[in-house]
Amino acid sequence: MTEIKRVGVLGCGLMGSGIAQVAATAGYDTVVRDVSKEIWDRARAGIEKSLAKLVEKGKLPAANREAALKRLSFTTATTDLKACDIVIEAVTEDLALKNALFQELDGLSGPATIFASNTSSLTIAAMAAATKRGDRFVGLHFFNPVPLMPLVEVVRTVTTSAETFRRAFAFARSLGKEPVAAKDNSGFIVNLLLVPYLLDAIRAVEHGVASVPDIDKAMQLGCGYPMGPLTLLDFVGLDTTYKIAEIMFAEYREQRYAPPPLLKRMVIAGLNGRKSGKGFYDYSADPPTLVDLGI
Ligand code: 3HC
Repeated sequence: MTEIKRVGVLGCGLMGSGIAQVAATAGYDTVVRDVSKEIWDRARAGIEKSLAKLVEKGKLPAANREAALKRLSFTTATTDLKACDIVIEAVTEDLALKNALFQELDGLSGPATIFASNTSSLTIAAMAAATKRGDRFVGLHFFNPVPLMPLVEVVRTVTTSAETFRRAFAFARSLGKEPVAAKDNSGFIVNLLLVPYLLDAIRAVEHGVASVPDIDKAMQLGCGYPMGPLTLLDFVGLDTTYKIAEIMFAEYREQRYAPPPLLKRMVIAGLNGRKSGKGFYDYSADPPTLVDLGI
């Protein structure tokens, strides 16, 4: 089977740019597609900053940073990914958008090319079925911040061939990640357990169980988590979490996945967390200050 040499990444938001960074750092020629130069410029600046940090901390030799940056290219044309051996999709959680991109590439990509989605909660089967390569379709779910988090969930859906799954698993390992095998159920392993916890933390705020900083402090110091749940929500993005919760609620019809009203209100107000400057905390100050949500 063809060796993976060239990697395509669809979308260079928080996750796509992290995936592109680790692919280029691992030695793959990496082509990233997104809709505008402004978005690439932001992604490239983020990647440069992250690589510089890794060099500064002695986690990456300086020469590897330069080599990684040289292996990265950006485009607006999906067709520029046609020579890639694996294409990883990391656009917003919108099935129609994801399927349109996969369908555009399907007829152009080589027969051995694997299509992978970094979806957090959508069904891999629904994307695989939109293409003619259901046997060469997997989920590759990375975690934020991608350059630092070691886990990748490798998701096998009902049509994925054993050979594709094996290649995708080996590819995740070649990125320096620790892969785990997951079935194609909404949320896979991590979000199945993490999302209800994060939503419960918002419910705890709604019910006045404790203040936002105290809920965070309690879970950090009481359970040894690196971040409290409300800080983590700001980090992942409230809009992203809202979308994931909606998808998981539609799939399981279980109350624990239902987005709480406070989450919805905050997303409507644009309080999406770090990426918008404000969520539960205001990031214009260092250290961040608490946002007054009037509750
Ligand atoms: N690249 C390189 N370096 C980075 C970085 C990046 N993208 N992000 C952070 N760093 C650096 C920081 O700059 C910092 O460097 P410094 O010590 O020189 O200041 C260093 O890493 C450590 O960061 P922090 O000081 O902020 O402190 P932490 O020790 O808390 O580490 C963390 C940061 C790794 C993000 C840690 O807080 C953590 O593990 N948090 C939990 C993250 C998590 O749970 N992620 C999963 C989210 S769920 C998900 O992604 C799934 C999706 O489907 C929703």
